Amino acid sequence: MRERIDHLIAEIDSIKAASLDEVEQLRLKYLSKKGLVSVLFDDFKSVPSEKKREVGQLLNDLKNKAQERFDQLKSEFGTREDAVVSHLDLTRPVDHMEPGTRHPLSIVRKQIIDIFGRIGFSVADGPEIEDDWHNFSALNFTADHPARDMQDTFFISENPEIMLRTHTSSAQIRTMETRKPPIRMIFPGRVLRNEAISARAHCIFHQVEGLYIDKHVSFADLKQTLMYFAKEMFGEHTKIRLRPSYFPFTEPSGEMDVSCNICGGVGCNICKHSGWVEILGCGMVDPNVLENCGIDSQIYTGFAFGMGIERITMLKYQIKDLRLFFENDVRFLRQFTGAF
Ligand code: PHE
Repeated sequence: MRERIDHLIAEIDSIKAASLDEVEQLRLKYLSKKGLVSVLFDDFKSVPSEKKREVGQLLNDLKNKAQERFDQLKSEFGTREDAVVSHLDLTRPVDHMEPGTRHPLSIVRKQIIDIFGRIGFSVADGPEIEDDWHNFSALNFTADHPARDMQDTFFISENPEIMLRTHTSSAQIRTMETRKPPIRMIFPGRVLRNEAISARAHCIFHQVEGLYIDKHVSFADLKQTLMYFAKEMFGEHTKIRLRPSYFPFTEPSGEMDVSCNICGGVGCNICKHSGWVEILGCGMVDPNVLENCGIDSQIYTGFAFGMGIERITMLKYQIKDLRLFFENDVRFLRQFTGAF
């Protein structure tokens, strides 16, 4: 026994290791549960009792020496991080990485934000999971009004008060509830409707809502703002056309068409040979909506509009299938490299 102990002490003393990993391997060889030192402890049981004291002492010395030796070897290699840094080759060429592209919807969203930013509209957004009040009721949709069917809503079956927002108009309400006029803001965001997916419709799409509330805001301001937007977005020669329409939260309401930027208004299959394409809904904020949000409709007026980012992007880049926006096919997305 004594011989074996002496032998192991000598062996451990002369250990050399080339790396931290090797130190760990050697430590396991001697000190793990089945290691050479531990085995000696097992054999200790058969040492005659009069020798136990002396041999026990030697065994403990061996174990402590071994532990010390491994700690010392470890410290020679420093900490693990130091070891990594010492192998770092700063002259190695980097892996080639293709630059990504902005998604076309992000490109156009940014352009819309920039265009309105230049005339003083700031940006905010609201939650995608909405309650009935913000998505419908405060916007003047009465409980059984057929206008609720205009937008196919995803409801939560447990609680019909909660839904995925069908339009960004809910963000108008959240803003008017918490801010005092003047309010001049746009709200870009994702909206969801229970629509069958096709080249022209999708259950997910994006809108930008606009809201301007102040004293003496008139329909002329709305028209001028939208004309400015259309020219900035589609070019100086763009014309606009406002058609009467209906939304529960605006009165009067309109839909705006822009002259087709593809055929210049002569007629093509994008504009279905009419020379015009519809891009947004708009109107003067209904006094009921202002009152619902605690804004005095005798003092303040305002306008609102809502446009689909997909529609504008399709027109701008002549994209014919809405589904391309959501499939993440890099062959499609790469075409926008450097577009912005
Ligand atoms: N929220 C309407 C829609 O999604 C668009 C709209 C916004 C109309 C603001 C008028 C004013 O169809």
